[in-house]
Amino acid sequence: ASTPLIDTFGRVHDNLRISVTDRCNIRCFYCMPEDGVQFMQRSEILTFEEIEHFARVAVSLGVNKIRITGGEPLVRKDLPVLVEKLTAIEGVKDIALTTNGVLLAEQAEALYAAGLRRLNVHLDTLDRERFHQITRRDDLPRVLAGIDRAQQLGFGPIKINAVAVKNLVEPDIVPLARFGRERGIEIRYIEFMPLDAQGLWDHRKVLLTDEMIGLLEAGIGPLEVMPDPDPRAPALEYRWKDGGGAIGFIASVSRPFCLNCNRLRITSDGKLRYCLFAIEETDVKGLLRGNAGDDAIRQVIRDVVWAKWQGHEINTAKFVAPPRPMYSIGG
Ligand code: GTP
Ligand code: 5AD
Ligand code: SF4
Repeated sequence: ASTPLIDTFGRVHDNLRISVTDRCNIRCFYCMPEDGVQFMQRSEILTFEEIEHFARVAVSLGVNKIRITGGEPLVRKDLPVLVEKLTAIEGVKDIALTTNGVLLAEQAEALYAAGLRRLNVHLDTLDRERFHQITRRDDLPRVLAGIDRAQQLGFGPIKINAVAVKNLVEPDIVPLARFGRERGIEIRYIEFMPLDAQGLWDHRKVLLTDEMIGLLEAGIGPLEVMPDPDPRAPALEYRWKDGGGAIGFIASVSRPFCLNCNRLRITSDGKLRYCLFAIEETDVKGLLRGNAGDDAIRQVIRDVVWAKWQGHEINTAKFVAPPRPMYSIGG
């Protein structure tokens, strides 16, 4: 219908990540502080109607992939209602959810009924004590029950995201991969990124993809690069040579994938961002609440994409962390 959402580097944007809350029911140290977090007021957060409206406009510009993120999206009341609204939009080919899994056992059925099929669950360890240490909550059994329930219901493919922090999760790399092999779940290890609320990140705390590949091959067996990878997927995809399935690495630090980025994000308070690491953001809540009209919203989306930089500069001295941490931007 119209020209695609293209930036000055020729990247086409068809992937929208919608954060539905900044709240979370656990406290992963690489994301949130233990306490004292100032969450947004309810009135600042977009309503489901506003989110749906924005999504429809974005879809009219060629967005066809939507991912719901948080904070923790399942703490947002009645999330399946939003899922239903989004799956009903003509032109949405793929809708997915990224969750920490704590509330998944309770909500999986309603989410499935609302049309959701794709889930990424955040889980760093299968060791209850380390889970508690990382998340400051003793909820590993609930997350595992959530994964079980989702698999029983036929969700698929489920992926697990594990944040890779050096000198901490090395003992978890191989057990998680074994779990993935047994359960037919792709594990994706994410290099720790400088998005934590407390400024804990530094280069030496990143467990690098090459190190993890070393641990996995020593502990389980040989890996090979997946043939015909999707060039726009964030993860480097590998598979076990023995047929044990896929495994991925989101190597934002050691091998940034910015050149293929197709993502646009909207925060729960209605700010549009062209990058996870963007410093600037553009308000659309005012347009949505002020009945600005879809053409005005379309123009803002085009302008934000057009303003997009080439990529983050985690690896240079120029790097400046974004003013908001991960939970407030959306994962
Ligand atoms: P699918 O490939 O569709 O399953 O989705 P995804 O991998 O984009 O979704 P998910 O929310 O599971 O993302 C996994 C992790 O990748 C996130 O938790 C972030 O840590 C990281 N990530 C997501 N988007 C970006 C991005 O735009 N830039 C960077 N550097 N990292 C990102
Ligand atoms: N670095 C990398 N990934 C992170 N996540 C949260 N904080 C960080 C960080 N500092 C990931 C979690 C979650 C997603 C929303 O973001 O794995 O799945
Ligand atoms: Fe919550 Fe996700 Fe942040 Fe962990 S990483 S505290 S699960 S928002």
